[in-house]
Amino acid sequence: MKLLLLPGDGIGPEVTAESRRVVEWLNAHAGLTVTLSEARFGGAAIDADGVPLTAETLAQAQASDAVLMGAVGGPQWAGQPYDKRPEAGLLALRAGMAVFANLRPARCFAALADASTLKREYVEGLDILFVRELTGGVYFGEPRGITDLGHGERRGVNTQVYTSTEIRRVARVAFDLAKDRSGRVCSAEKSNVMESGLLWREEVQALRDAEYPHITLSHMLADNTAMQLVKNPRQFDIILTDNLFGDILSDEAAMLTGSLGLLPSAAIGAPGMPGLYEPIHGSAPDIAGQGIANPCASILSLAMALRYSLGSPHAANRVEAAVEAALDGGARTRDLGGTLSTRQMGDAILACLAP
Ligand code: IPM
Ligand code: MG
Repeated sequence: MKLLLLPGDGIGPEVTAESRRVVEWLNAHAGLTVTLSEARFGGAAIDADGVPLTAETLAQAQASDAVLMGAVGGPQWAGQPYDKRPEAGLLALRAGMAVFANLRPARCFAALADASTLKREYVEGLDILFVRELTGGVYFGEPRGITDLGHGERRGVNTQVYTSTEIRRVARVAFDLAKDRSGRVCSAEKSNVMESGLLWREEVQALRDAEYPHITLSHMLADNTAMQLVKNPRQFDIILTDNLFGDILSDEAAMLTGSLGLLPSAAIGAPGMPGLYEPIHGSAPDIAGQGIANPCASILSLAMALRYSLGSPHAANRVEAAVEAALDGGARTRDLGGTLSTRQMGDAILACLAP
């Protein structure tokens, strides 16, 4: 199995280095046979190669079984045209790998329930899984751009667009995952004002009726979903939504769990195709290079890669259990109110991995 590491920018290289150590440990001690390679990505690639994602790196990603990304972006690349920004590399990678379904778990670790901005009684045991559409919608829709209308007036345009196929294939992922959970899926859109939202709702319902009669499907307007997430977050199991609403709502839910630094994500496409794995947190330029970032989200993203792309669900369980055991044992980086460095947190997790 081939795993490509794309450490990227900011704290990306620091946290990805800890995931690399976990893979190396599993290779040496747990019978895993994952071959690691690494490439430049994001701002680091802009500086060295002139573009955030070179054709070679994309080809390398497509030829891997899984890609583990760190983070992209930083103030030094802001203000550039969109196609010259690190984020454009991420969108091109998602599109180029055709990873249309983004799985974002928002799970509240028992040891950290008090780190949430909501009271413990609302978040303890929280376990939401977002299934966010990732390669369509307003992020990719045409036309887009800023045009000069003259007389100091300009117009900015983006297009929210979805086809039946795009909606159905991501809904299928949500329904399939729901079978192993509570069987409940809540689909969020704005069908009250957007045609694309109405199509979303109709297609999701039609697929449920035709092929997934045992799934309990509900529909919720996205603004209400945002409100319900802080009012009573534990009502949700799987939330299925589009690219933009999924971007926003998954950040909101992530914060409920106490730390963005803990949450992984997986982006998957058609069965058998490589998946893209990344921590939910960003590049955190304010603490980059200090060795204090929390590597848990990267390591948990690695666990998702082991489960969904590298054929090692057993190793995935083991890595997740080790992270949880390290947290239960009191291991804390600064974002969680502790004092451990990135490396020390990695050490604590490795120590829990060892039998
Ligand atoms: C995310 C990020 C990205 C997105 C950015 C960095 C392009 O916010 O993965 O949630 O908007 O999808
Ligand atoms: Mg986001």
